[in-house]
Amino acid sequence: MPSLDVHHIGYLVKKIEKAKQAFLALGYRIEQDTVLDDLRNVKICFLIKDGYRIELISPVSTDSVVSGLMKKYKNSPYHICYETVDLDASAAELTADGFLAIDTPTPAPALGGRRVVFLTSASAGMIELLEKDLSS
Ligand code: NI
Repeated sequence: MPSLDVHHIGYLVKKIEKAKQAFLALGYRIEQDTVLDDLRNVKICFLIKDGYRIELISPVSTDSVVSGLMKKYKNSPYHICYETVDLDASAAELTADGFLAIDTPTPAPALGGRRVVFLTSASAGMIELLEKDLSS
C-alpha cells in the first residue's frame, strides 16, 4: 500500500471570510487564499499553523457538494485528506478494507488540478485521497 500522508483537515464553514478572520485570530496564516471550485460549487482556502494545514470549504450555492453536510454539521471539521503517490491503488486498497468511494477521482482546482476522491467508512467517517504532485 502506498503510504498515506496527512495533507489537511477539511473544515466546513458557512461564511468563508468570517471563518478566515477567526482562524487568523487563532494564529493561522493564509497558505492559499480563497479559490472558487466551480466543479463542486464551493469556495476553498488553505491556512497553516504549527505544521497543521486546514482547508476551509464553504458552499456557494444550495446544490454544492457540501450543502447537505452543512445542514448536518454547521461549522465543523469533517474530513482528513491523505496524500498518496498512487491515488487509484490507494482507493482500491481502502475499498478492499471496507471504505466506500462516494465519488470518482476528479481534478481539484484549488490543489493545482491534482485529482482527489472521497471515501467513507462506517467506523472512521469521511476521508479524502489526494494524488501527490510528483513534479515538485
Ligand atoms: Ni479536502
